[in-house]
Amino acid sequence: MSRSISISFFSSIFFLYLASVTSDLDSDRRALLILRTSVRGRTLLWNTTASSPCDWHGVHCDAGRVTALRLPGTGLLGSLPPGGIGNLTQLQTLSLRFNSLSGPIPSDFSGLVLLRYLYLQGNAFSGEVPSYLFALPNLIRINLGENRLSGRIPGNVNSAARLVTLYLERNQLSGSIPQITIALQQFNVSSNRLNGSIPDSLSGFPVTAFQGNTLCGKPLSPCQGVSPTSPPSPPSPSGKKDSDKLSTGAIVGIVIGCVVGLLLLLLLLFCLCRKRKTEENNAPPPRNVEAPVVVAAAVPKETAANVPSPAAGSSGAVSKELIFFVKSFGEFDMDGLLKASAEVLGKGTVGSSYKASFDHGLVVAVKRLRDVVVPEKDFRERLEVLGSMSHPNLVTLIAYYFSRDEKLLVFEYMSRGSLSALLHGNKGNGRTPLNWETRAGIALGAARAISYLHSRDSTTSHGNIKSSNILLSNSYEAKVSDYGLAPIISSTSAPNRIDGYRAPEVTDARKISQKADVYSFGVLILELLTGKSPTHQQLNEEGVDLPRWVQSITEQQSPSVVFDPELTRYESEGNENIIRLLKIGMSCTAQYPDSRPTMADVTRLIEEVSHSSSGSPNPVSD
Ligand SMILES: *[C@@H]1O[C@H](CO)[C@@H](O)[C@H](O)[C@H]1NC(C)=O
Ligand SMILES: *[C@@H]1O[C@H](CO)[C@@H](O)[C@H](O)[C@H]1NC(C)=O
Ligand SMILES: *[C@@H]1O[C@H](CO)[C@@H](O)[C@H](O)[C@H]1NC(C)=O
Ligand SMILES: *[C@@H]1O[C@H](CO)[C@@H](O)[C@H](O)[C@H]1NC(C)=O
Repeated sequence: MSRSISISFFSSIFFLYLASVTSDLDSDRRALLILRTSVRGRTLLWNTTASSPCDWHGVHCDAGRVTALRLPGTGLLGSLPPGGIGNLTQLQTLSLRFNSLSGPIPSDFSGLVLLRYLYLQGNAFSGEVPSYLFALPNLIRINLGENRLSGRIPGNVNSAARLVTLYLERNQLSGSIPQITIALQQFNVSSNRLNGSIPDSLSGFPVTAFQGNTLCGKPLSPCQGVSPTSPPSPPSPSGKKDSDKLSTGAIVGIVIGCVVGLLLLLLLLFCLCRKRKTEENNAPPPRNVEAPVVVAAAVPKETAANVPSPAAGSSGAVSKELIFFVKSFGEFDMDGLLKASAEVLGKGTVGSSYKASFDHGLVVAVKRLRDVVVPEKDFRERLEVLGSMSHPNLVTLIAYYFSRDEKLLVFEYMSRGSLSALLHGNKGNGRTPLNWETRAGIALGAARAISYLHSRDSTTSHGNIKSSNILLSNSYEAKVSDYGLAPIISSTSAPNRIDGYRAPEVTDARKISQKADVYSFGVLILELLTGKSPTHQQLNEEGVDLPRWVQSITEQQSPSVVFDPELTRYESEGNENIIRLLKIGMSCTAQYPDSRPTMADVTRLIEEVSHSSSGSPNPVSD
């Protein structure tokens, strides 16, 4: 008796729950139908007799609610109705790019509190850029380019703490660009009617992000003319009555005097600034080196000449020489390094890398840092920390060089290049295919190196984990490079660092937590198994990153669908270990940092996976 009561009790709760879910989905369905009947142009071919909208073209549901609506290039015409998209209260992604939608961006978008990605570019939306957009707490990317939006850029852009992309190009926006303090990584306001000066925080973006306006200041030409901020201080008359009685002649005289004085002052300031600018600009040598160059040619003369530092510390001997951490690789000095023949290896986010070969056969990799933002003392302290690290799966930092104009790191040279090149490079040329054992070994080696970094203390992180920073030794051991450099490099140095590895909570590239490292490492595992680059344009478009792509496919189909064909070609059907490693990677990319495992856990799990792989020799001997 009591049992049947409890059953009916639970079933009624269940049905109540079901009812609430379906009613919410019903309301999503109603909202979509309102959209469908309002927009003109090509009809949305939705099966309106279906009770759930989840199978409709462009509609994506999660947990029984509509979370994404993607109708790019669908020929939609007319304006967006109220009570339509704005009522999809669980919406996270909205893409209506390249349609012919017009009218204002509806005000009920302010209710889309979960919205992360908003793509409305390539329409004819008019009116202002609504300020409530920036109050949506989860927004990560906004693209409103190529519309007819007018008015000013709202002053509350900084409220969108997680925003990394703001594209407003090719509209009719006017006024000046507000101060932007959030860490944007992509920004474009070109071809508008903006005027005034470019805020300092945006000066690291390329010229093309600002062209087609009447803007001034870095990266465009410096602002000229009278500064609008400080009007000339009024003449200080002895008494108010007297000043009231000044003759027009006197006033004209005073005004002319002030204006001339101010102009002279500005001219002086301008010249001083220009002088400093040109000094700064002359200092760094050209960076657009594509062809092999000789490092010596690229390093300014001054550095080669061992000029004693004028800013020598209290010890009196702050060295202009290479500072060595390990000498087992062979000895050389700055002169020798400059004379070594060099070849460009690549350009990364922290700087360019060269391969330097000495006459006596030694080969090293030289990394030339760009946009170092910390003072010399902090730089040297940081390098001491990095130089003290030693692990078989870390690329050894051999030495470094610091001067005002040049910061060089000398690493051991890895002849097999990076994992990125191996996975995504030219697969022809008789290259050995990357089999499961090799991939598992690389995952394990990298995990061990990162665990080691994390074990140093709770604030130490790698900060820039990605496949181009996983180098390979001759025996395909993973050697992790570029560790610990993030805090000394300007975060605006590479605005386009939407790289697919970045954890969702990260807003400042200089502050990467260990849990954010775990996320990036998870993406790396997924990349290793799928062979897909997380930076791949098609994945990144509309915010579908590699983890979510893998998740959406594995939810519906067998996991083997996502694997790199090169990996599965030589593996027996359904190698359990590959699937286990995939799951480890996915657990690392959990959205919330607290749900991610620690790097020590991850390493242990990967050890189990790779040890239980039949006949797999442990590729790392430590
Ligand atoms: C539309 O949905 C209904 C109900 O789910 C279904 O019976 C019908 O076959 C669908 N029509 C088309 C053309 O898919
Ligand atoms: C949209 O939401 C508003 C406010 O919650 C509500 O009054 C309205 O009925 C909803 N529209 C539809 C079509 O569900
Ligand atoms: C910018 O343009 C507006 C008109 O669109 C004008 O009122 C304002 O004075 C201009 N500001 C500057 C600094 O040129
Ligand atoms: C900005 O947008 C323009 C198109 O208006 C494009 O040509 C330019 O390359 C873009 N620049 C950046 C940095 O995104």
